[in-house]
Amino acid sequence: MINPIYYQESGIEKINQYIKNHQPTKVIFLVDENTRELCFPKVVSELEIESETKVLEIASGEENKNLYTCISLWEALTELKIDRKSLLINIGGGVLTDMGGFVANCYKRGIAFINIPTTLLAMVDASIGGKTGVDLGSFKNQIGNFALPQMVLIEPDFIQTQSFEQIRSGFAEIIKHGLIADSNYWQKIKQIQNPDAENTGNLIETSIKIKKSVVSLDFTESGLRKILNFGHTIGHAVESFFLENQTPILHGEGVAFGMIAESYISMKKNLLSPFENEEIRNYIASIYPKLPVKQENFDKILAFMQNDKKNTRNEIRFVLLEKIGKAVYDISVENELIIEAMTQMLKD
Ligand SMILES: NC(=O)c1ccc[n+]([C@@H]2O[C@H](COP(=O)([O-])OP(=O)(O)OC[C@H]3O[C@@H](n4cnc5c(N)ncnc54)[C@H](O)[C@@H]3O)[C@@H](O)[C@H]2O)c1
Repeated sequence: MINPIYYQESGIEKINQYIKNHQPTKVIFLVDENTRELCFPKVVSELEIESETKVLEIASGEENKNLYTCISLWEALTELKIDRKSLLINIGGGVLTDMGGFVANCYKRGIAFINIPTTLLAMVDASIGGKTGVDLGSFKNQIGNFALPQMVLIEPDFIQTQSFEQIRSGFAEIIKHGLIADSNYWQKIKQIQNPDAENTGNLIETSIKIKKSVVSLDFTESGLRKILNFGHTIGHAVESFFLENQTPILHGEGVAFGMIAESYISMKKNLLSPFENEEIRNYIASIYPKLPVKQENFDKILAFMQNDKKNTRNEIRFVLLEKIGKAVYDISVENELIIEAMTQMLKD
């Protein structure tokens, strides 16, 4: 059970077909200030819509991925008299698709939505798989649900206007896909030293296939799907820490940090070989900047981990690597080892 994913012109055709078949009362486009300028004109010029259309714009940024923005959107939808037969089209990065899906799914108990991801990260990860939601204060994705879009349209050309830092952020999820599921894919990924629109654009389909195959076996994350959280237990906690300090980092930067630290934990748990741990650390550290995390921040970061959604009975549960290409989940890790792994991150 997963939403259909279409590429480029064939995707536009599918959306046009959907609109023709379903005749939505109104079509609402959700954009932010960047995607309104850079992506919306191309999408709208290719769609054939007879219904009335409206554009809703939100401010970009993780700091706006919260219930306040959702409320403003629900109010706007209400003001526009949007009924349950209307369609919401989300055009944006992961912040926008996470929030747009959540807004659509809660409004009048659910209206249909389509995702058009415009960042690498949203294409290979956030916009597919049906996890939607928002942050609560600094707690990442604390409020949310599972809600599938009618379809996802992938247009890799949109990546062309992303900055290097943003592409590198999305690339972290691609690295994760290789590490958890496919060692041959990892070998291919490792050839890339400077992620750009072209070399990462070629990886989108494989990454989507990996994510799709995992999600379709365990949509609600009762088991296997947890492997997609590799790097995210520590990564999300670090991201929350910086978000709380009002110096947000990019999602992929947190995940990159998390993947190195969690590989180290995997090695200490006698799962991953020291050789592969070194290989992972060297590669990721050669691409991502060192985060300004300090020893005195560890307690705070650990406190964020204690709220992680994968925990049970107050134990911090991790996804770890048995080897490159094979992840295991629900592994309880003691605080001392988590601190040790983060301490390693302070070294050069
Ligand atoms: N739902 C999931 O399964 C899932 C998975 C991974 C990550 N996420 C979430 O995704 C979010 C991160 O997504 P993101 O990295 O896309 O960040 P983002 O949505 O914040 O987008 C990054 C920036 O790029 C701009 N932008 C968007 N498209 C652009 C384009 N084509 N050209 C130039 N600029 C563009 C945006 O306006 C924004 O300023 C996080 O909130 C994370 O929690 C969700």
